[in-house]
Amino acid sequence: MVKIGVFDSGIGGQSVAEKIQQIFPDTEVLFVNDSKNIPYGLKRRAEIIRLTLAATQPLVDAKCDAIVIACNTATTNAIDELRAAHPSVHFVGIEPMVKPAARMTKTGVIAVLATPGTLASHRYALLKQRWASQITVIEPDCSTWADLIEHGQADRINIHSMMDELHRWQVDTIVLGCTHYHWIKDRIQAAAGPRVQVLEPSDAIGARLKDLLSTNAELPE
Ligand code: DGL
Repeated sequence: MVKIGVFDSGIGGQSVAEKIQQIFPDTEVLFVNDSKNIPYGLKRRAEIIRLTLAATQPLVDAKCDAIVIACNTATTNAIDELRAAHPSVHFVGIEPMVKPAARMTKTGVIAVLATPGTLASHRYALLKQRWASQITVIEPDCSTWADLIEHGQADRINIHSMMDELHRWQVDTIVLGCTHYHWIKDRIQAAAGPRVQVLEPSDAIGARLKDLLSTNAELPE
């Protein structure tokens, strides 16, 4: 049976793992997290790399056909090191959806909601340089969000005051650049209103896995 590993620092990846299991009901989905070290997003890059390598080792040992790094912070800081450490493993990373957002926006202003670790990464800088050099990218402070969501305190997040700022900028596309925020997507969409699109990558990850696995495994359609 095809085995797909999913990793996140915490419960963000769980939403992605559930989605993957829905898309591929006949595969085994193994989810691991590193909740004792959350939040990754407030750590230095070297630490994120060290923790990600250690926490994903059980998935490597389980000989997964693919491993999804369902964490923007780990992907943008550590995916190169993971691939270098395990050249025969198929890693699928999750990065903020800057490219589709830049294509969709009509106002030319998008917002990326992500951890400080993702926003500070070289990979994210390259993404913006490549796809968003002609538009404006707003990066509101979400630095406390992942920890609050992880610990069941999402109610303390003041989405409305952030949204006032995004509306003032005429943002029409919001990228959820942290998988923890998937759990509050409905609240973000409700606060943003129907004219604002809120993007998250679960479907794109499903499509990527289908491509990847159908070429070298007996993956059911
Ligand atoms: N879920 C992680 C992400 O997608 C972040 C959580 C954390 O800061 O540990 O970036």
